[in-house]
Order: sequence, then structure tokens, then C-alpha cells
Amino acid sequence: MRLDKYLANNGFGSRSEVKKLIASGRITVDGTVVTDPAFKVGDGNTIGNGMPDNNSDFVSHVYYMLNKPNGYITAASDAKDRTVMELLGNNRRSGLSPVGRLDKDTEGLLIITDDGKLNHFLTSPKRDVPKKYYALLDGIPDEEGIKKLREGVAFKDFTSRPAVLEIASCDKAAGTSEVYITVTEGKFHEVKRLAISIGCEVKYLKRVSFGGVDLDPELKAGEFRVLDPCELECLFASAGMKPDDK
Ligand code: URA
Repeated sequence: MRLDKYLANNGFGSRSEVKKLIASGRITVDGTVVTDPAFKVGDGNTIGNGMPDNNSDFVSHVYYMLNKPNGYITAASDAKDRTVMELLGNNRRSGLSPVGRLDKDTEGLLIITDDGKLNHFLTSPKRDVPKKYYALLDGIPDEEGIKKLREGVAFKDFTSRPAVLEIASCDKAAGTSEVYITVTEGKFHEVKRLAISIGCEVKYLKRVSFGGVDLDPELKAGEFRVLDPCELECLFASAGMKPDDK
């Protein structure tokens, strides 16, 4: 992927902002300054901001936990729909990005940060960061379905990593169930597709935990707060980063 796209995707700013950042000579790839925005980078590269650690412009980051409501899209901006960033009100600023995506109709825990490195590590498919969802299903998973998810489902475009499904309750007469599903990747509509693969349909979906950090039950839909130090430590550990990497 192009360096400018990579940086924009990872919360370093808009495409034009990251172009300026690259042109300023601050960005390093594997320790070497790169000023070409088209330079190709991938997961194997270490991208640095090339600034000394004591430069607060670059090392002082913010980390929010948002309880995403239904009806908002997970994007930095959108011409048509309301975005999760609008929920930050006056705290919204350039460089902040959601960590991963939730569908427009999915609710619950969304981390928003301007720490591009943490964002990148948390969303890297290599990191196995657990994401737990509460789902209301039309259908009741059976043992065979639970085993299928645990072993991985072969879809046309990918085979899912093992997912854990726990049944919280079921209503046999109505044919519905409440379940928790934990996945470690962030494929598009993954939980909904996994449910369909075992003959169930997601009627309601809410993320309740991300990288070992639980959604604060005090946060109403649409509310957010700064992550506390324990939660932050947990996120860094899930990302496989040391607190020193902050
Ligand atoms: N899986 C889905 O299907 N939707 C989400 O929003 C998140 C995970």
C-alpha cells in the first residue's frame, strides 16, 4: 500500500495532511526517512514519525471508548451519513480515527484514537485481538454449529479464524437466542455471516469487549470517555506492544 494511504488509514491525518507530513521528512520506514508518498509499505515495515520521543506533538495521544449507537457509520467523514466522529463533539480533531469498523446498525464499543501505531497493531490480522459481541439471533445454534464456528468457516472469500459462541439464553417457542460471539479478526460483516453459516440471523448486534477492554456499562449509546490507564495497558498488551511503545 502507498505510504500516504497507509498513514491516513492509521490515523495520522487526512490524505493531504499526511502528504505534508511525509514531505517534511519526519516519516521513517524501517528507520530511513521516506519523502515519497507513493513509497510502498506493508505490515512487515516499521513506520516511525521520526520525531524524538520528547516531542509532545507526536507522542501525546488520546484514547476514547465510545458506545456507538445504531445509525452512525464508522468513518472519519461521510458525505451522506452521520459518522461516529460527530459524536465526539468538541473533542473531534484531525488525526483521530476509529479502531476497526462496526456496521451502521451495530452498537457498542468502539475505540477512537490518534495513535496510528496502536490502531494499526490492533487491526492487524496478525495480532489475533479478541472482539466479543452480544447478538440476538433468529435461530438457536446447535452443537454442530458451535463446533463449525470453533473450527473455522470456509466462505468464498476467506476462511474464518476460530470463533467462540456461548449461548446466554434461548427461547425455544420463539426460536430465538441471545449469544456471545468472540472473533479475532475484523472481516466485513463477519459475525452476521458466521451466524448465517449456522442457520441463524443476527437481529441485533453489540460489541461488548475489544482487546480485553469491556464496554463501560455507565456509557449510554452515543456517549464516550477517555480510557483509563488499566484499560490502556490492556489494549497495548492485546496489540502485542509494550507500554514504552506509546
Ligand atoms: N461483525 C458484523 O457482522 N458486524 C459488525 O459490525 C461487526 C462484526
